[in-house]
Amino acid sequence: MPGPRLLNKVTIVTGSSQGIGREICTQFHEEGAFIVCSDLRPSGQGEDVPTHELITQKGGKAIFVQTDVSKAEDWVSLIAKTVNEYGRLDILVNNAGICTEANNPQPIDEVDEAAFDAHLRINTRGVFLGCKYAIQQMKKQELDASGLRGRIVNFASMVANIGMAGLTGYTASKGAVAAMTKTIALDVAKQGIVANSISPGFTQTAMLDNALGGALSSARDAVLAALPRGRFGEVKDHARAAVYLASDDAAWVTGINLNVDGGLTAQ
Ligand SMILES: NC(=O)c1ccc[n+]([C@@H]2O[C@H](COP(=O)([O-])OP(=O)(O)OC[C@H]3O[C@@H](n4cnc5c(N)ncnc54)[C@H](O)[C@@H]3O)[C@@H](O)[C@H]2O)c1
Repeated sequence: MPGPRLLNKVTIVTGSSQGIGREICTQFHEEGAFIVCSDLRPSGQGEDVPTHELITQKGGKAIFVQTDVSKAEDWVSLIAKTVNEYGRLDILVNNAGICTEANNPQPIDEVDEAAFDAHLRINTRGVFLGCKYAIQQMKKQELDASGLRGRIVNFASMVANIGMAGLTGYTASKGAVAAMTKTIALDVAKQGIVANSISPGFTQTAMLDNALGGALSSARDAVLAALPRGRFGEVKDHARAAVYLASDDAAWVTGINLNVDGGLTAQ
């Protein structure tokens, strides 16, 4: 039996309170990682037990640090609290994101400029700041047995590969994440840090419920029919992909965008 794949790896997960982020925390804990949960609030939509409490109840190590990923001062504090608690930072998973446009998709000539800016601020600037401050810490650390001192997994989206009418701000923000991740990977490759992105397809979370429950609700069957694997994604599909990218199995993988979308963008 192979052992846990992330034993004692100190991991920050943003957007940890619900959806994909909560499942990443759970799967990383099951692989032996120590978790720093970070989100606007500890409890997510429809979740009774905060993620960090769920993990500690299972005998794992986890803390919660309130963080707005779009604020540099919050990142400085998050990294400092992580190092204070666990002594280092091995893995950063930039999962937090918004897609408020899905509730009210608008064609380009009618896009609300504040909504556009909000997607860029949280989805793109949030990932940029996380990478910047995490890498400052990772560069101070010793190399591990795989020759790495840090691993980063950024969440982009299927819309980094395909257009989606009415979602200008979201698509711009996520295309930027996939593109930026390649440059970050090159910036730090020689320093023993890897950076990759995951692009989820339609996945059953509050984000998708909000989108399909709103203006897209009439499209649910059509969306499903367009998915080659014949089902919506599950949070575990992405959490396991993140485990792979953060593990020693992917020590020589850097600068990729991994599509976890049931074949949607292979068409
Ligand atoms: N669900 C999908 O179909 C889908 C598809 C493609 C990409 N994604 C991406 O996957 C990631 C997770 O999506 P999800 O479906 O779990 O979303 P979700 O809406 O269920 O959860 C997102 C989490 O991010 C947190 N968050 C939002 N703004 C934040 C901020 N400023 N600072 C800190 N935390 C913040 C929220 O509080 C929430 O807990 C997102 O980046 C999303 O864009 C999701």
